[in-house]
Amino acid sequence: MASQLTDAFARKFFYLRLSITDVCNFRCNYCLPDGYKPHGVANKSFLNVDEIRRVTRAFAALGTEKVRLTGGEPSLRRDFPEIIAAVRENAAIRQLAVTTNGYRLARDVQQWRDAGLTAVNVSVDSLDARQFHAITGQDKFRQVMDGIDATFAAGFTKVKVNTVLMRGVNSHELETFLAWIKPRPIQLRFIELMETGDGGELFRKYHISGTTIRDQLLQRGWVRQLSGRSDGPAQVFCHPDYEGEIGLIMPYEKDFCATCNRLRVSSVGNLHLCLFGEGGISLRDLLADDAQGEALEARISSALAQKKQTHFLHDGHTGITQNLSWIGG
Ligand code: GTP
Ligand code: 5AD
Ligand code: SF4
Repeated sequence: MASQLTDAFARKFFYLRLSITDVCNFRCNYCLPDGYKPHGVANKSFLNVDEIRRVTRAFAALGTEKVRLTGGEPSLRRDFPEIIAAVRENAAIRQLAVTTNGYRLARDVQQWRDAGLTAVNVSVDSLDARQFHAITGQDKFRQVMDGIDATFAAGFTKVKVNTVLMRGVNSHELETFLAWIKPRPIQLRFIELMETGDGGELFRKYHISGTTIRDQLLQRGWVRQLSGRSDGPAQVFCHPDYEGEIGLIMPYEKDFCATCNRLRVSSVGNLHLCLFGEGGISLRDLLADDAQGEALEARISSALAQKKQTHFLHDGHTGITQNLSWIGG
């Protein structure tokens, strides 16, 4: 087996975020306010199941133990259950998660679990159905809530929910969110709004630091938990009176990137060293057959030498990231 992926700053990479489509059926105001528009990437050119099997196999050989399927909206792929099964064929991938807008959960989550999915993250930006509609462009609050219930019913013991924090839009909903997670094993994560190429104006209007939430939590007796080597970047807080947890994802906080443990592969097979990097390193020519596995591992390992210490969001540099839909956050 090849050696564990390590970069020039001694960070180790246990976590692959793999986008399987750019297409999304929601129009979240901070991501795709005008809806998804195909831009040269024809649907057929997204990685196929065999390519997905090969790329995740190579990462596993390099020490990856967790894969998250992202999009766009990953469940829009008709072969989504086959994709799940193909990744799980490799026993070294012990955790296989999805980040979804939740619209297909009620119908399909049991099938995904049966195929081998181990964790589900769902976006819910407001617990007010009208506000949810206003943010996402879809009147599907009830459907997503039913989807979360279905996720528990299918046997998942915990669900993570993502809420992008926006000043005046949902920043006053903390009480409502806390009441919601009190009896439910939901990890509710507030994500600081990140600036993207398309979203400069929105960012200036709505960005608010997660520290305001953190201060309120600490005052009320919430306690920070430790995180594991393949966990995401959330600072997680718990409280003895609550079944649920609160997570804070604060990419503007100093040293956020010091614990970076993840790499990304786009839906067309480009390796991205950072969510906000430049360009990407194509892996696709090495995904066509099983014979090139070693060359693929070598390309991934050597690319890692170029990984920068941090993003440059503080300087307003968003890299090539126009919005997060094509790389899945
Ligand atoms: P867990 O493994 O379940 O903790 O997942 P996660 O938080 O890594 O996954 P999820 O897809 O739910 O991520 C939530 C959001 O966090 C993403 O959509 C991004 O907006 C943000 N995020 C995740 N990883 C990074 C990162 O490396 N850098 C930055 N800037 N943001 C990230
Ligand atoms: N800032 C922060 N989070 C974002 N997401 C998408 N765009 C942004 C942004 N500009 C998050 C969504 C979802 C995940 C896939 O990415 O809320 O949880
Ligand atoms: Fe890693 Fe880039 Fe995210 Fe920082 S912004 S944690 S370097 S992927």
